[in-house]
Amino acid sequence: MEAYKTKMVERIELPDREERETNLEAAGYNVFNLDAEDVYVDLLTDSGTGAMSDEQWAALLRGDEAYAGSESFDRLEAAVADVMGFERVVPTHQGRGAENVLYGALIDEGDVVPNNTHFDTTRAHVANQGADPVDCPVDGAHDPDEVAPFKGNFSVERARERVDRVGAENVPCVVLTVTNNSAAGQPVSVENTRAVREFADEIDATFVIDACRFAENAYFVHEREPGYGDESIAAIAREQLGYADALVMSGKKDALVNVGGFVAVRDDDLFERVKQRAILYEGFPTYGGMAGRDLAAMATGLREAVELPSVRDRVEQVRGLGERLREAGVPLYWPPGGHAVYVDAGAMFSHVPTEKFPGQALACELYREGGVRAVELGEFAFPGAERPDLVRLALPRRTYHREHVEHVVDTLAAVAERADAVSGLEVVDEPEMAELRHFSARLQPV
Ligand code: F0G
Repeated sequence: MEAYKTKMVERIELPDREERETNLEAAGYNVFNLDAEDVYVDLLTDSGTGAMSDEQWAALLRGDEAYAGSESFDRLEAAVADVMGFERVVPTHQGRGAENVLYGALIDEGDVVPNNTHFDTTRAHVANQGADPVDCPVDGAHDPDEVAPFKGNFSVERARERVDRVGAENVPCVVLTVTNNSAAGQPVSVENTRAVREFADEIDATFVIDACRFAENAYFVHEREPGYGDESIAAIAREQLGYADALVMSGKKDALVNVGGFVAVRDDDLFERVKQRAILYEGFPTYGGMAGRDLAAMATGLREAVELPSVRDRVEQVRGLGERLREAGVPLYWPPGGHAVYVDAGAMFSHVPTEKFPGQALACELYREGGVRAVELGEFAFPGAERPDLVRLALPRRTYHREHVEHVVDTLAAVAERADAVSGLEVVDEPEMAELRHFSARLQPV
């Protein structure tokens, strides 16, 4: 049973086949270059694309735009304390702003930072400090077929190996990303979180949680981790985040807003350093790059995030999409993550070699077939990473209905049926920074 009904609507339209073909060509076979109004179901990202609740819109109108000491900031501070258990909060314009502020205060040149898997912007911010980002996923995290409850976990063993080599004094922090976006949105268990806490203590490092999708993660713990079936999502989230020394948060995910983020810390000294950097890069520490109204909406969204009906709707919708696609015979990373289903384009287009970007070919076919926009996370986005050629279908929160999900399933099934006829792509124009190529490069069919 859905936990919402609609109060406001937005028109969408499926351009006809000929228009889609023209749009795709004009976009250089890169769906980032499409106009959103030409997309029918937009699954590019779950970041900042969700629908706010009536309570959030009401909070927005009550936003206090004072430069310093805004009442909306007080609301956010109280929500972070109640929901996440952190008393010291500094808002930022979004998640990467939080990363810049916190990692700049923690990391020095030459340091090493272990993470279950770095998200792109996290990796870039660690590298930007002159440090070495080291991924420590568990075995099977990148195996589309291995079924396990917590494939997002952090491998303490892998991290220890690296720390033993470089010396604990060069490891200022250990980061745990929940859910693990770069490992197909897989969850992290509370048991694993406790193990990372012990490891951080052992090497005297600050334990940071990237909490973007903390509520989805708590839902999986509630469902899958022994001993947590009777615990509320709110209690699980508080316990899990309770092991950390600091949080980086993109409010655009589980805080249910279109923009915003924050850093939360326990230590007074770190709090001071974070505030100074926030003033430099984001804004005065009681607004940090956000309008008062957006702080207020984020405070309300954080409280809604841990309500069971809200998070259950969300994770079950994603899972439903995964199950329907599997029934239709589409090769997937399994099980589905909390925010997205990942299609194994390499398996679907086994005749297209990796260097001809089977994932990007699928992203293009989804638009051509049904006006659906998804994102490639394989060879095109991560050249040479030797990861499976996956395409992510990320569902915005509280936005699409069952009919939209059915349309996505029908679209994928139609593409799968004529998979043999799909050709690969080659890059014809790309930006200077290889890391950013998938956002703007232009391609052509081969
Ligand atoms: N950390 C994780 C795990 C993320 O997934 C993201 C963003 C960020 C940090 C950065 O947050 O966008 O607010 O600056 N992920 C989006 C995505 C962009 O599509 O997965 P941001």
